[in-house]
Amino acid sequence: TNDFLIAPSILSANFARLGEEVDNVLAAGADWVHFDVMDNHYVPNLTIGPMVCKALRQHGVTAPIDVHLMVKPVDRMIADFIEAGASMITFHPEASEHIDRSLQLIRQGGCQAGLVFNPATPLSYLDYVMDKIDMVLLMSVNPGFGGQAFIPGTLDKLREARQRIDASKRDIRLEIDGGVKVDNIAEIAAAGADTFVAGSAIFNAANAADPHRYDSVIERMRGALAG
Ligand code: DX5
Ligand code: ZN
Repeated sequence: TNDFLIAPSILSANFARLGEEVDNVLAAGADWVHFDVMDNHYVPNLTIGPMVCKALRQHGVTAPIDVHLMVKPVDRMIADFIEAGASMITFHPEASEHIDRSLQLIRQGGCQAGLVFNPATPLSYLDYVMDKIDMVLLMSVNPGFGGQAFIPGTLDKLREARQRIDASKRDIRLEIDGGVKVDNIAEIAAAGADTFVAGSAIFNAANAADPHRYDSVIERMRGALAG
């Protein structure tokens, strides 16, 4: 897989008009919908849960919904998001009592599974699970809020994760989340990422003439990725 996917984070969308925001960002060329779930316990912020995922499906969203769980405990939310129509579910390994079981729950529910690594969480959590994951998600900010600056040390970590994935010879996506902009996306791709979450860069780019269209920033990201 060397195709690049763009996954706008709806954390930075207007929640009062969420269905329309998701429609617009998909019409603008987004590949996935990145869905940030925060519980005011694992992270110091509170967002949206399975009911909102289900509502997006009922609204007619057919694109993959990439559920990023920032919750503790994780397993009950896995069950609820499978039921709500998630396509892939990632969780933070240090938030799960039984990482292998949580991964199994996700795949048994028919979803793709992945682990998320905070900036200081070691990649050694991958040692025994490469056959049980479809995705590795590296956080390039500390989780909890949109609009933070990309932590430069993440580039070396991306290179290490890319080596682990290539060595496994498995079809595992390498996703990056936090501070991704038009200006740094090429450098992030060069370090090994193939899937790019972007929240504020996309949703804050609405212009006065056409406040709900996101084509230009997604096009500029694709242009930067194409070199
Ligand atoms: C942070 C979330 C991110 C966030 C990214 O905890 O996981 O998905 O929305 O936002 P930006 O792209 O603004 O850094
Ligand atoms: Zn996220």
